[in-house]
Amino acid sequence: MGKFFLGVIVTLLVLALGALGFAMLGFFPTNANAAPPHLEHRIANTALDASMERHAPRVTNPVPPNDQNLEDGMKLYSMNCALCHGDLDRKPSSLANSFYPPPPNLVSDPPDDPEWHIFYAIRTGVRYTGMPSWEKTLSEQDMWKITSLLSHMEKLPPAVQDYWKTTFGVAPPTGDAGKDAH
Ligand code: HEC
Repeated sequence: MGKFFLGVIVTLLVLALGALGFAMLGFFPTNANAAPPHLEHRIANTALDASMERHAPRVTNPVPPNDQNLEDGMKLYSMNCALCHGDLDRKPSSLANSFYPPPPNLVSDPPDDPEWHIFYAIRTGVRYTGMPSWEKTLSEQDMWKITSLLSHMEKLPPAVQDYWKTTFGVAPPTGDAGKDAH
């Protein structure tokens, strides 16, 4: 039995050292201009969701989703997030395929996660990706306003839909047409 466990430990050590050597000799790619393989994408996303489930506080949005706050959210989103996640004029981001992993288009495919999850992603960012943490750049209020916009994107009040149309020249997404499954 003792020999068996020793064997297991030696095998694990060899594997760990092998992976380290592999990395130190430069075999791991560093380029961001590639699409992550399907399996890697699935595993990473499942791990990300599980980690957020475990770490994110279940806070409720203190900002009411009224017209003013949603319009503020639109301005904040356009200034800070559109570059990577697509602007409200619904044109794809020019950087959409330049990250590894790529940023999701939050306008054509708004997140259906609870607001505490969206807020946590904005506040703390996503490690090992291009998604920054915004807590040192935006106020809590502003992060909640963007959260409100993202979670109400497909059910905005009529006045906010009009504001969107006059500002960006297109209608906001409604969720009826062409919504792809995650
Ligand atoms: C420099 C590019 C960049 C900017 C700017 C940026 N993001 Fe991201 N964001 C990313 C990338 C890349 C990912 C994908 C991370 C992943 O696949 O795990 C991401 C992921 C996300 C997610 C999904 C997290 C999840 O749970 O899967 C949300 C929500 C998000 N960003 C919101 C925002 C908001 C809101 C802003 C503006 C305040 C913003 N991002 C600004 C690059 C960016």
